[in-house]
Amino acid sequence: MKRIVVLISGNGSNLQSIVDRFSDSEHAQVVAVFSNKQEAYGLTRASNAGIDGHFVDASQFEGRAAFDKQLMVEIDQYQPDLIVLAGYMRILSDDFVEHYLGKMLNIHPSLLPKYPGLHTHQRAIDAGDSEHGTSVHFVTPELDGGPVILQAKVPIFDTDSAESLADKVQSQEHRIYPLVVDWFVRERLNMVNGDAVLDGVALPEMGYASE
Ligand code: GAR
Repeated sequence: MKRIVVLISGNGSNLQSIVDRFSDSEHAQVVAVFSNKQEAYGLTRASNAGIDGHFVDASQFEGRAAFDKQLMVEIDQYQPDLIVLAGYMRILSDDFVEHYLGKMLNIHPSLLPKYPGLHTHQRAIDAGDSEHGTSVHFVTPELDGGPVILQAKVPIFDTDSAESLADKVQSQEHRIYPLVVDWFVRERLNMVNGDAVLDGVALPEMGYASE
């Protein structure tokens, strides 16, 4: 049984999709949820699912490295096989990334390599893009820069706002993130020499099934 630890900062709808997917799986279970925000609704979701939830308060630490070190210590008590970033909105220190290299996934609301960082939906609208989407990738020290595993696209219509686009993107996220986690816990997916590899085949730059 693979042990999954999920990091969140907010609503936790992606957390919920993964909890639901693995609630009676033989392969994996979510063993703990960590949040850097006390009010994150994802902590309530964890509690409702009977999963340990922890708030780690960055204001109690002198700087990013000290906070991440404590977070690592607390996470490692759960002996995780996989770390899932699900709307975790803090930049990670290099030591943290190195510690979990090859076993940490993130979901980012854009078709990477387009729009790393924040405000991705508005940026896609402002650029006049006809499509947008979301990407699941391995985490490496480059912000939103690790190898992409799977993307899902949505069309952008003239009537779309950042909010309507975010809704469409999120419903795709709830489909693809549990699927990628499933690949990982079944040992079909790993990271080799900076590539995402699925069933022994290195995936192209924009992940599985990209054009
Ligand atoms: C998701 O849309 C995720 O792609 C995004 O935050 C949202 C969290 O929603 N992540 C990032 O922007 C990371 N840079 P959730 O809390 O409901 O899962």
